Amino acid sequence: MDNIVIRQVKMKDAYQLHKNVFFNNRLFEVKSSIQISLSNTRKKKGFRFVAVFSNEVIGNVEIIFNTHPLMKHRALIYSLVVSQNRRRCGVGKLLVDECIKLADNYGIRIVTLSVRGGTDAEKFYKSVGFKKYGELPNGIEQLWDGKQYDECLYYKHIEN
Ligand SMILES: CC(C)(COP(=O)(O)OP(=O)(O)OC[C@H]1O[C@@H](n2cnc3c(N)ncnc32)[C@H](O)[C@@H]1OP(=O)(O)O)[C@@H](O)C(=O)NCCC(=O)NCCS
Repeated sequence: MDNIVIRQVKMKDAYQLHKNVFFNNRLFEVKSSIQISLSNTRKKKGFRFVAVFSNEVIGNVEIIFNTHPLMKHRALIYSLVVSQNRRRCGVGKLLVDECIKLADNYGIRIVTLSVRGGTDAEKFYKSVGFKKYGELPNGIEQLWDGKQYDECLYYKHIEN
């Protein structure tokens, strides 16, 4: 897939994000999450990117900076989702690359994330260079079906 644009989220993306990416969430929930993301960005606490292909929003990711005085060199990636019918086309990698580029510009040196163990998402993060540093058995429990997963913790150093 050529011509995928990665850009910061806008409030007008709410409907397409809801339709294509976060269909399990209500539209008002997606809107309020965008409001929070935009507020974080104004305060330079974090950023949210979307992937756009052919005028359709098909992916989402967020990065938030760690504000702890001893961890200001760290940031957390979360909420990475690519529209089901657009997976395995490189969109996830483009979104993560954008987060890492931004983190680098802000002087961040370590990016971390948490993922359900044994899932395709874990395979994805390994394939884009993240390394495992811990695991919390049954650390994730899905609200909607009670299913439990090990929470696997991953990191990537940003090279200067
Ligand atoms: C994880 C996710 C974001 C990956 O997005 P994507 O756009 O499909 O990923 P990419 O096309 O950039 O994949 C890059 C590489 O990751 C690996 N990869 C991605 N999906 C994979 C899968 N299902 N199985 C095995 N490897 C996979 C491959 O090495 C792939 O390269 P290749 O296609 O050339 O073999 C997507 O599967 C998704 O939205 N999953 C559901 C939400 C989720 O679990 N998010 C993570 C929350 S922590």
